[in-house]
Amino acid sequence: MKGLVLSGGKGTRLRPITHTGAKQLVPIANKPVLFYGLEALVEAGIEQIGIVVGDTADEIRQAVGDGSRFGAHVEYIPQDRPLGLAHAVKISRGFLGDSPFVMYLGDNFITGGIRQVVSRFSAEGPEAMILLKRMPDPGRFGVAELHLGRVVRLEEKPARPRSDLVLVGVYCFRPSIFEAVDAISPSARGELEITDAIQWQIDQGRRVEAHEVEGRWIDTGKMDDLLECNRVVLDLLPERREGRVSEDSRLLGKVILEEGSEVVGSTIRGPVIVGAHTRVVDSFLGPFTALYHHVTVEGSEIEHAIVLENTVIRGVSKIEDSLIGRDVVIERSNTLPRAHKMMLGDHSRVSLA
Ligand code: G1P
Repeated sequence: MKGLVLSGGKGTRLRPITHTGAKQLVPIANKPVLFYGLEALVEAGIEQIGIVVGDTADEIRQAVGDGSRFGAHVEYIPQDRPLGLAHAVKISRGFLGDSPFVMYLGDNFITGGIRQVVSRFSAEGPEAMILLKRMPDPGRFGVAELHLGRVVRLEEKPARPRSDLVLVGVYCFRPSIFEAVDAISPSARGELEITDAIQWQIDQGRRVEAHEVEGRWIDTGKMDDLLECNRVVLDLLPERREGRVSEDSRLLGKVILEEGSEVVGSTIRGPVIVGAHTRVVDSFLGPFTALYHHVTVEGSEIEHAIVLENTVIRGVSKIEDSLIGRDVVIERSNTLPRAHKMMLGDHSRVSLA
């Protein structure tokens, strides 16, 4: 069995972060979301992995390399334009050959891995197996309708969903999917939808089965979902203390300190992760905060936030419910007039108290 990981797309809902970086590399508890998917594939015994890449190809290649650090062999499949998930399958035919495969969307996160679904797919032998999860807002996703356990109808982002069972971005296919992706036409949003390709298989009378995800599933395409995912993972991680803590600091609850990090004169209430070579001085970090590597926080309070690499936060109280990008500087200025002075990138979002 092979793996096909989709890591293209524009990430418009995560701008401005995605103006300068791939959405699949935004860290969740200090590890790119894409890496959790790669690990899940390897854990399910899938080592031959093709990654479909778009505009952010260089960054993805640099982060993942040849896959050996995951115990995988990774090949890259360039997609010129984001023409849809079924289009990604189409262009990956050379890599996939005659092998059954798992398609994994690189910005999707699930707890509990995919071993069970992969072994069910192999043992039961359907043409396709889809993963489903009940959601309160199904219209944002692909929606499935089941009858006596069989999938009878799929609709992509329907205005009137027929059920609350939505398509999780992990699918098991056999080579018969190539016939389906060749048979369908682009949707209203101009994409070849994998949902339509699977529906085509159902219409042909082919057996499509569903597997309900028991654990958590998060499509990390938006800031709130990223923060939620960060909460879920921080709750699961074991404690690790590889950094230095001064005697006048207080660490309460689970605090993960990565290599070369430093906490001085500060209070941290976990779960929190402080990244490699990050310094926290005279500050307070509250639950569900993840500071990535080479971040500096001085005289500030931060809670329930993700801060990316090389950012400096000085003299600011209090930052909450936030996603802050790379190389950002936020500091208190002592010059008059007492005004907010900003240089913000396109599509930035700021809420002032
Ligand atoms: C895609 C699929 C959709 C699925 C979702 C899961 O949507 O088309 O059926 O529910 O992934 O993340 P997209 O992210 O392209 O809007």
